[in-house]
Amino acid sequence: MTALTSLRTYLTPDEMPTHWYNVVADLSHPPAPPLGRDGQPVSAAQMAAIFPLPILEQEMSGERWIPIPDEVRQIYALWRPAPLVRALRLEALLGTRAKIFYKYEGVSPAGSHKPNSAVPQAFYNKLAGTKKLTTETGAGQWGSSIAFAGQMFGLPVRVFMVKVSYEQKPFRRSMMQTWGAEVFSSPTVLTQSGRTALAADPDCQGSLGLAISEAVEEAVADKDTCYTLGSVLNHVLLHQTIVGLEAKTQFDKLGVYPDVVIGPCGGGSSFGGIAFPFLADKAAGDKRAANLRAVAVEPASCPTLTKGSYAYDFGDVAGFTPLMKMFTLGHDFMPPGIHAGGLRYHGASQLVSQLVHEGLVEAVAVQQLATFEAGVQFARAEGIIPAPESCHAIRVAIDEAKAADAAGEARVILFNLTGHGHFDMASYDRFFAGKLENFAYPAEAIAASLAHLPKVG
Ligand SMILES: Cc1ncc(COP(=O)(O)O)c(C=O)c1O
Repeated sequence: MTALTSLRTYLTPDEMPTHWYNVVADLSHPPAPPLGRDGQPVSAAQMAAIFPLPILEQEMSGERWIPIPDEVRQIYALWRPAPLVRALRLEALLGTRAKIFYKYEGVSPAGSHKPNSAVPQAFYNKLAGTKKLTTETGAGQWGSSIAFAGQMFGLPVRVFMVKVSYEQKPFRRSMMQTWGAEVFSSPTVLTQSGRTALAADPDCQGSLGLAISEAVEEAVADKDTCYTLGSVLNHVLLHQTIVGLEAKTQFDKLGVYPDVVIGPCGGGSSFGGIAFPFLADKAAGDKRAANLRAVAVEPASCPTLTKGSYAYDFGDVAGFTPLMKMFTLGHDFMPPGIHAGGLRYHGASQLVSQLVHEGLVEAVAVQQLATFEAGVQFARAEGIIPAPESCHAIRVAIDEAKAADAAGEARVILFNLTGHGHFDMASYDRFFAGKLENFAYPAEAIAASLAHLPKVG
């Protein structure tokens, strides 16, 4: 019998990261400040209407290393470290010389990377005396994560779930309810933003931007309620760097270093989480990272980084959030109801946007059918059924391996397998039934919504 080799690399408790990495410290210039409608920078006091102080401090921090509180590390220990896995069977299937690794975030209670930020957000809110949390969720991954995290710290949670996902994924709702959260199909009649959207279109399928408006509106209306966001903002990307930091130590143990780091990109948190710690090596002049490439992957039907404008825009449909300098398709852009609900966002993290704008991060857009083909290929080789969002990264990882073979290079590829697809089987069903389609690039809809970009900055 051949000796078994472990394909998974774990870390001991002593090897676990004690600090998150803040990429702001290594940017060539500070991020553009969030602005109010008047074009003036938003003050911390204004933001304090919806976020607790410790979160605001992290949001605005320029410190390179920020300690992870023990209370958060204790909860992380329920599933972290997440394994770094060598995808040997996928490599064999592809017949590639490339070494393909994935960091598997589907081992968390909610099944994705999202609890990495949900747990600290619930912790800091509890610390600051918040009594209730509101949030939005697209695919249901973030809603589940904050429902779980709220439960860990005894905080009630209200989730506005984008209607199209609410209907496609009833068990995500059950999951949130199991952890004690209240879940509403957005748009609702509970908020002015929801009522306005329904008046304009009673069949409105909702969008992440609209659900954000509803959740923010509730938080603004009650001083004891705070809003939590599962992506986009600096503090969320900060928390997610636990993924890349663990991966770096795991690679050190293997004596390997990646040539390319790939992540799906909705708001940018999982991409930033896996890529930023490697970009830190590049910024520090580490020779191993000299030619490192970081690739953010988005859907062709919601091509924020590849076709959007780099401009100030609102984070939500109703314009409650501050204006942020980011790649955007326009805050009233309604993407088609694709099956990677977590990637249907009109904007992107300002940090990821700045790095794309400066040429330090690459962005590619891929079609829906090609992502499911990659996901099925991966599941058949490696066993894990990936979330549709993660399939975007798998598609590009496979394409990178093929390109490296064609160029005669032996590339080391790392991608973020951000979650499992156990609640997404209806989408897989549609794929197998031949009912999934590629959406044409919605050029007209994007042009129309870009025409409404706020005139500031
Ligand atoms: C499994 C999974 N991967 C990726 C994403 C994209 O979000 P982000 O870009 O913030 O990582 C989501 C969003 O819900 C998700 O559920």
